[in-house]
Amino acid sequence: MKTLRTIEEVRAWRSGENEVGFVPTMGALHEGHASLIRRSASENAATLVSVFVNPTQFGPNEDLAKYPRTLDADLALCEAAGATGVFTPDKEMIYPPGFRSWVIVDELGDRLCGASRPGHFKGVTTVVAKLFNITNPTRAYFGQKDAQQALILRRMVIDLNIPLELVVCPIVREPDGLAMSSRNRYLNPEERKRAACLRKALAEVEKLHKAGTRKTSILRPALVTILDDHVDKLDYAEIVDADTLEPLDEVDRPTLVAVAAFVGSTRLIDNVILGLRA
Ligand code: PAF
Repeated sequence: MKTLRTIEEVRAWRSGENEVGFVPTMGALHEGHASLIRRSASENAATLVSVFVNPTQFGPNEDLAKYPRTLDADLALCEAAGATGVFTPDKEMIYPPGFRSWVIVDELGDRLCGASRPGHFKGVTTVVAKLFNITNPTRAYFGQKDAQQALILRRMVIDLNIPLELVVCPIVREPDGLAMSSRNRYLNPEERKRAACLRKALAEVEKLHKAGTRKTSILRPALVTILDDHVDKLDYAEIVDADTLEPLDEVDRPTLVAVAAFVGSTRLIDNVILGLRA
């Protein structure tokens, strides 16, 4: 596995490969990232992982400074999962002095997580567009845990004619259902136990939906009741059209049920799709 530190090194490495799968990350890698890397390694001759804690997707009061940085462990995980290259740019390389250009996906970036994290998706789309331009991958892999991110990036790829296939992979969970996340390591043991309630609340909605309940005026309170009992602060619990993120009265199309909540001071997200799509 090759460690690539500069854009020039990545371009030289890329020119020797026909087919590249790309897994962009912010490091602090876990089994969820490993599943993306393994999927890429099974579908592409070469797999490149980027590790870059992107400052522009953090708000002023968010966890940029304390975001976990675990590069040695990350490199070991990448290699074990089948990556053949890892790109570890520094901040100045991605945002050189005078940087002024941004990629914005209208509207989709203002809802759900975008409503409580203004500017977050502008930072994500900009850095991912840059990374796509630098790495020129055949396929790019993202996790369904960040459902809104995946939706916005798919829109960006279509709208900007970016020539790659975007692959969204299933959420990887701990045995008690908690979705894997780099932020789970902030949770103390008591918070960690309570954090499983996000999945429990979503499972309750899935159960009601399977039993035939379609009205979101019934489904949403079921979601909120379980969350309110366990989390310290609910950020949002929404039942929305899986393509437009518009709120729904009835689950009559592919539907995204998405939650974000603080357990202690850690903000966790999770989601499930109801309806036609698996
Ligand atoms: O999902 C993430 O880890 C980040 O948002 C991404 C896609 C690597 C962009 O910084």
